[in-house]
Amino acid sequence: MRPTLWLLVLLPSHIPAQTAQNILQSKCFQCHGQVQSSGLDLRTSESLKKGGKRGPAVIPGNAAASLLFQAIRREGPLHMPPGKTPLTPSEIATIKTWIDAGARYESTSTTTQSWWSFRKPQRPTPPSVKNPTWIRNPIDAFILSKLEQQNFTPAKPADRRRLARRATFDLHGLPPTPQQIEAFVTNPAPNAYETFLNQLLDSPRYGERWGRYWLDLVRYADTSGFETDHFFTTAWRYRDYVIRSFNNDKPYHTFVQEQIAADELWPQNIDLEGTSKFPKEKEENQLRRIGTSLFTIGSFPIEYTYYGDQFRAEWQADAIDTIGAAFLGLTVSCARCHDHKFDPITQRDYYRMTALFAGSVEREIPLGSLFDIQTSTRGFPLLAQAEAWKRMVRSRSRNATPEARAELLQKLGEAYLRAPDRMPTANVLAHAETVPDTHVLLRGDFKSKGEKVDPGFPAALPPGPPIDEPQRRKALAQWLTSPDHPLLARVMVNRIWQGHFGEGIVRTPNDFGRQGEAPTHPELLDWLTSEFIARGFSIKAMHRLIMLSNTYLMDSVTNADALARDPANRLLTRFSHRRLDADSLRDTILATAGTLNLKMGGVGVIPPLSKEEIQAARMPQMWPAHPDPAEHNRRSVYLQMKRSLTLPMLQIFDAPDSATSCARRDRSTVAPQALALMNSEFTAQQSTHFAARIRKIAGDDKQAAITAAWQIAFGRDPSPSEREIAHQYVTANSLDRFALLLFNMNEFLYVD
Ligand code: HEC
Ligand code: HEC
Repeated sequence: MRPTLWLLVLLPSHIPAQTAQNILQSKCFQCHGQVQSSGLDLRTSESLKKGGKRGPAVIPGNAAASLLFQAIRREGPLHMPPGKTPLTPSEIATIKTWIDAGARYESTSTTTQSWWSFRKPQRPTPPSVKNPTWIRNPIDAFILSKLEQQNFTPAKPADRRRLARRATFDLHGLPPTPQQIEAFVTNPAPNAYETFLNQLLDSPRYGERWGRYWLDLVRYADTSGFETDHFFTTAWRYRDYVIRSFNNDKPYHTFVQEQIAADELWPQNIDLEGTSKFPKEKEENQLRRIGTSLFTIGSFPIEYTYYGDQFRAEWQADAIDTIGAAFLGLTVSCARCHDHKFDPITQRDYYRMTALFAGSVEREIPLGSLFDIQTSTRGFPLLAQAEAWKRMVRSRSRNATPEARAELLQKLGEAYLRAPDRMPTANVLAHAETVPDTHVLLRGDFKSKGEKVDPGFPAALPPGPPIDEPQRRKALAQWLTSPDHPLLARVMVNRIWQGHFGEGIVRTPNDFGRQGEAPTHPELLDWLTSEFIARGFSIKAMHRLIMLSNTYLMDSVTNADALARDPANRLLTRFSHRRLDADSLRDTILATAGTLNLKMGGVGVIPPLSKEEIQAARMPQMWPAHPDPAEHNRRSVYLQMKRSLTLPMLQIFDAPDSATSCARRDRSTVAPQALALMNSEFTAQQSTHFAARIRKIAGDDKQAAITAAWQIAFGRDPSPSEREIAHQYVTANSLDRFALLLFNMNEFLYVD
């Protein structure tokens, strides 16, 4: 043998495999990939071995006996590829060598099998432990076994009072009322805690809290950001859709399917012939479709719309980046300009995914029945008349006498009163007439078109279903929510865990790739994932499971040893005490002051800002505060989210900027936070209300006032020394000052 041939033999085995794969890819995938002639999919080693109608296409290690090899040799009835041009002898030889060596797809299947988060979760058996009495449910076995390995003992259980606050903040983002706490603490029933949890989960406050996490994750905002920051008039319908979905415990896979492809999965063309009746099913499907508004609220400069291609490229990239981060927990966005440098996601994969959104466009649809639409359009002339009066008022405002102007204004007002309400609409996804081609964009530049690509899924992840053109997003929704998908459920379970413990089992919740952190409890994560799937993707079922574990019930107080050897609490030696996030803090101040307005839903409310804050905003005329002061005290999730201006009170406490997905809010501790709590108009105002609330309960009795204040603010009675200090303070200062002081105490800001 000549030396060069020796070299070929010595080359690592993945070289011929790669070549065989390339041959199959270029000569066969067009009919045995997305399209599966004779039921055969050649894209993965699994599907290859499974084969098509005739059974396994290859027998690894035996080319001669493999159907595929016979087909390319054209030995039997099958001649592949069909037509006059057979594969070349060297291509046939490469495939023979490859099958004889085991028919492995190196680049795809090996990475799929070697990277933990790309593997399908297996349900592990909970480990056995030395102290089984601590195990309340299997979660505890996973946690305790690690603690025992390192000679830790778990913290003692938290008392009921503390637990009531913890659970209520966890599920509602609000404190429990003193009455709720007393009812729980004094309930002698053995299932008192379960009852308490069920009440929390049944309350609409739950969806507002957990919906908020989701909104952070999908970069929700009411405006587009950048200079123009234009207003998305119906974005709030998506916010309400999210809150409703959590409150109804919509199964997570349905929630995902609706957001990606409700229009393709649930038809809306259900009209009862000859009537204007609004079928229930149609109404439900319309509500589902609001989920697709997710893709109409991205952050772009409006200038991008100057170029159709640029807007399309940015819009599709935003869709895929958001799906990558929120649904897959992968930094897919890194493959936009070059192959991902760390994870097995190529630039081609990226653009195949963007192609899933090619042909999808935003559309404003009327909500309601045919009857509603007709009533509304019949009233249109009245609306047009009102608009005409408005124009007249404007154009004549300079040279109109005051009397004439007053008369015009009167007419304008009357015209508006007669005019019908605007038809309710939503901005959702629909289909364009044509589906444009998708190309790889070199370095992400919309002007540098590379190879043309078909819609598809990252090659390193399980293959997707066939695409039923033009319903591409349906395939994406089905792919993501297939029970075999390794990431969707795992990533969500980790987020649920994080919502309860402050940190996920994977502490980089949006990055399950190589740059992310490894799970602290991998078996637990997989166990929870299989449990989540087995319980029909019910998020509330997961809350119950987690919150009923002894792990969740641990106190936040622990011993010096645990603090020293497990400072970041990775092993969960105790419950991590943590600061309220911006939204909870603002809501808690309002709840404590007794001013919280629990009205749900509707257009985002613009609360007033102080003069200085308005001056700091670039466009003060764009801040028309809501005329009804009661609206200013709505929960934070219902405030308008303007991308160019986060409310200062919320921003100081780390509210996200909503340009990209936020998986976990920062928890900074900075001086402006203290100033905002001490000196802002908001806290000053609310402390006055809180003081009034205390006075109403206690009259002029200082001791009674202190007790009432402590119970409302902290859910407990003051200790004797606290009472004494408080008494000195209220004697020297006003009750308003005292109320303000309580907003500034650590116990107010932190949950244990
Ligand atoms: C233009 C489309 C097309 C291309 C390209 C093509 N095939 Fe096929 N293939 C078919 C069709 C159609 C059948 C079904 C033929 C039949 O049932 O008689 C088939 C059947 C097969 C089968 C049998 C599957 C089964 O179990 O029924 C194998 C194996 C196969 N092809 C291998 C290949 C390989 C390897 C290549 C590339 C070298 C290839 N094909 C390229 C269309 C194609
Ligand atoms: C908007 C385009 C774009 C995006 C998005 C992008 N990159 Fe890059 N990246 C580049 C360019 C351009 C280069 C330099 C040329 C190259 O290496 O391809 C580069 C280079 C790199 C390099 C090599 C640096 C070096 O010194 O060799 C790494 C690592 C990298 N990127 C990581 C990432 C990660 C991680 C992400 C996602 C968080 C990301 N990139 C997203 C454009 C991008």
